[in-house]
Amino acid sequence: MKCDVVVIGAGAAGLMAAATAAKRGRSVVVLDHAKQAGKKILISGGGRCNFTNMEVLPSNFLCTNPHFVKSALAQYSNWDFISMVCEHGISYHERDHGQLFCDDSAKDIVKMLLAECDKGQASIRLRTNINDVVNTEFGFRVQTSNGLFECQSLIVASGGLSMPKLGATPYGYQLAQQFGLTVMPTRAGLVPLTLQPEDKQHFEPLSGISLTTTVSANQGPSFTEQLLFTHRGISGPSVLQASNYRGVGEPVTVDLLPSDDVSDKLTQAREKHPKRLLQTVLSEWLPGRLAEALMAKQQWPNEQLCQLNKMQLDNIASTLNGWQLKPAGDEGYRTAEVTLGGVDTDQISSKTMECKTVNGLYFAGEVMDVTGWLGGYNFQWAWASGYVAGSNA
Ligand code: FDA
Repeated sequence: MKCDVVVIGAGAAGLMAAATAAKRGRSVVVLDHAKQAGKKILISGGGRCNFTNMEVLPSNFLCTNPHFVKSALAQYSNWDFISMVCEHGISYHERDHGQLFCDDSAKDIVKMLLAECDKGQASIRLRTNINDVVNTEFGFRVQTSNGLFECQSLIVASGGLSMPKLGATPYGYQLAQQFGLTVMPTRAGLVPLTLQPEDKQHFEPLSGISLTTTVSANQGPSFTEQLLFTHRGISGPSVLQASNYRGVGEPVTVDLLPSDDVSDKLTQAREKHPKRLLQTVLSEWLPGRLAEALMAKQQWPNEQLCQLNKMQLDNIASTLNGWQLKPAGDEGYRTAEVTLGGVDTDQISSKTMECKTVNGLYFAGEVMDVTGWLGGYNFQWAWASGYVAGSNA
């Protein structure tokens, strides 16, 4: 079959790219090996899809070239996507940090994208395996389990490696390498961290406890959100956000009492209640079981505040305001929301998403070396880069 554009991947970026190209009058075929389009959209945001954010800035993204995202985010903004959501009568609400979620179901977003694809009669072929792609004088020949597709432009929107159960594969990276492009090393992002055995022993029993913390890693930004203790380690938004910035083997810094200067707080507590035991005081400031576990791990003596010397108080204060926790690792792609790294953006035009060295080859979405923060940014990147690729392919 001959068409103008083949899109590989019927996920967030692929559907947006297909709808955009089809509305320009291009004949478009979307190929995906999955049984269903937009599987990640369907499970995102706890089934309500955090589809974008009220404020989207280039600094909300990690990319080896931080300027790369600017053009696409300007060409298709969060407000453009919000308008489409409104046109389709999808009601939504704002949560903390400007995150926008569907009121009802993530299914509404998939339905909307499929309806947009329908407007331009883009054809979506599911359960289709890609066997081979070759570059010809006129474009590309895509050999699949459902026949041969010949196209002028090829958009690779096959996503990253997170959640292989949902159909994630390294295919986009392999294809990029086939065409001579560099793939930046990949690793799990927005991912829970696992604890070293000696920490696990103290903190595993806290599984289910959450508290507001400020977490940072490797001189990245600090994130003040919930931290959740799990059976294997730590998770929750503040940890997931910081995980994007943590290098292999590096610690994270956790401020367990981000709105307090613990040194001042301890001094005042000692003046007011000199006879109070340390654990009693810490249990008023932190969940009781966490206070107990920290005391055991740090070997703080459960003495009256007046009996603690300055060095001990300083140590307690610096730990509570800047706990240096060295994780064993992370939970990997099995639970990661995104993949860091990917197709090197230096070889892609930021204005069109076309590969600089192969005419007609475009990339969209997470397959590229662009990763957003938690909060709707990864979908915004998929919409924006998909729109730009679809406008040019
Ligand atoms: P995406 O992964 O969506 O699509 C890729 C498509 O390519 C898939 O349909 C796949 O089947 C197909 N494909 C892969 N290999 C193929 C092959 N070899 N042959 C054919 N087809 C192939 N982001 C956000 O902003 N807000 C949120 O609420 C969430 N929530 C969330 C929850 C969970 C559990 C996860 C795992 C992820 C999120 N995300 C998120 C991240 C978000 O889902 C992700 O960044 C986007 O879906 C990326 O869109 P893409 O289209 O690039 O890839």
